[in-house]
Amino acid sequence: MGRDSTRLSIQVKTMLALETSCDETAVAILRGRELLASEIASQIAEHEKHGGIVPEIASRNHLVHAPRLLEGATRKAKIEMKNVDACAATSGPGLASSLMIGASIAKGLATGLRKPYLAINHLEGHLLSPFFGDRDVNPNVSLIVSGGHTMLLRVDGLADYQLIGRTVDDAAGEAFDKVAKMLGFGYPGGPEIEKRAHNGDPNRFNLPRSMLDSENFSFSGLKTAVRYLLPKLEGDYVDDLCASFQQAIVDVLVRKTIAAAQKSDVDLVTVSGGVSCNGELRRQLSNACARHGCEFKCAETWLCTDNAAMIAFAALLRLQAGFESKVTEEIDPNLALA
Ligand code: KG4
Ligand code: ZN
Repeated sequence: MGRDSTRLSIQVKTMLALETSCDETAVAILRGRELLASEIASQIAEHEKHGGIVPEIASRNHLVHAPRLLEGATRKAKIEMKNVDACAATSGPGLASSLMIGASIAKGLATGLRKPYLAINHLEGHLLSPFFGDRDVNPNVSLIVSGGHTMLLRVDGLADYQLIGRTVDDAAGEAFDKVAKMLGFGYPGGPEIEKRAHNGDPNRFNLPRSMLDSENFSFSGLKTAVRYLLPKLEGDYVDDLCASFQQAIVDVLVRKTIAAAQKSDVDLVTVSGGVSCNGELRRQLSNACARHGCEFKCAETWLCTDNAAMIAFAALLRLQAGFESKVTEEIDPNLALA
């Protein structure tokens, strides 16, 4: 066996991760850079009946789904629990009663197996997802756009993050979901708005782009502008409104991200989180990066929305860098990233 392959075999570890920060139960098994299993159970249909996420229903469902997903994941990965080298779970931010389920299971498994436990910040999972499968996390300006968060960070490497700006009110995904609700679409609203926007005119409605000269974001004014505009509209307007709304969000995200990259003097921009599934955001941000001499990186769309593979990846990078958490470490619904 050559020297390189010996080194490689030392590095290859198997990580089992759970993600239960909100209403999705997810389990993944990652061996080195090879994803052996990634299972997700969505509870959307159940919460839709109540018009929003009900924390107790979410945690009860996590308890039902997690054992089944764990069994399915180990079967798919063709491994036994004893072959897992470490267990990880999202420890925040998120719903306390949901976070507790995944974290408790991972802690229990780690303790029973006498293996390390890693508590992972959900936002770090998103932030690192564009590097999924890579060996290094190169310095970059990272835009995280999800249902709960919108933030720009300067990333100098693993666990080395500095906050540049964040939303002062709604997250970008939240704005998509709220406008979708006004239009009578189901949850999550982002994919439906994107679909309708595809056939619409992004210039028909002049919607506000707020706080353009700040490093922070604000999307509640945009949402309110749509609310006031809606009763005045007649005829065929839905596709155009979706396109105009989507363009207003994309304009703000692209402009602030490029400004942050220029100011930070990095030549790589990454985008992650559920909203980064949006094709227009990916296309326009990628074009803007090219115009400004920056490389652009985003994850495949299945890795952008909540999943456990990104948590397993973050945990594996941390384990390899010598991080480990105590099983006494508590979950934190408001866990900060930077
Ligand atoms: O990252 P994620 O799965 O969950 C959170 O951590 O919040 O993000 C979910 C958010 C939802 O608000 C959803 O509407 C939005 O991502 N989203 C999209 C698209 N797909 C999902 N927003 C715009 N366009 C999309 N294609
Ligand atoms: Zn998320």
